[in-house]
Amino acid sequence: MAIRKIREIGDPILTKVCKPVKEVTPRITELIDDMFDTMYDANGVGHAAPQVGILKRIVVIDCGDEEEQPIVLINPEMLETRGEQCGLEGCLSVPGKSGEVRRPAYAKVKAYNEDMEEFIIEGEDLLARALCHELDHLDGHMYTELVEGPLMTSEEAAELMEKREMEKAAQEETGEE
Ligand code: NI
Repeated sequence: MAIRKIREIGDPILTKVCKPVKEVTPRITELIDDMFDTMYDANGVGHAAPQVGILKRIVVIDCGDEEEQPIVLINPEMLETRGEQCGLEGCLSVPGKSGEVRRPAYAKVKAYNEDMEEFIIEGEDLLARALCHELDHLDGHMYTELVEGPLMTSEEAAELMEKREMEKAAQEETGEE
């Protein structure tokens, strides 16, 4: 159990395509444990192996409240996406920043667990967003490529959300769409 150094945007390792895992060795188990430690320490909801400098197709996710979480996904593969959601997204490799990203509202992923047993996971809302975001990391892609509008600091993002809430409330008062 250890907290590893998180690679940040600009580090070329984050642009590389990761290799599939053939076997869950003790080193892989240790890596997965460390990825959880590193993610929880940084208050993240998802983490991909390249973010700690390892080019393997491993993702961990913990969005909190759902039963099957935390989740380990080895060699994950996107099977299906549906719908659309637009919302703020951040990444442990882009500290202190967030931006608006359009993602599917639903995602269905096939992956292997730590016993190399195949399973299917379906997610909506935050889990769908996390699945898309983390799987992108395994192919060297970051959410910053998809951001609509500026990358914001947490203060700017909070201001924007407050403005949206006020606009929404004003619209509701006047009965407009
Ligand atoms: Ni990320």
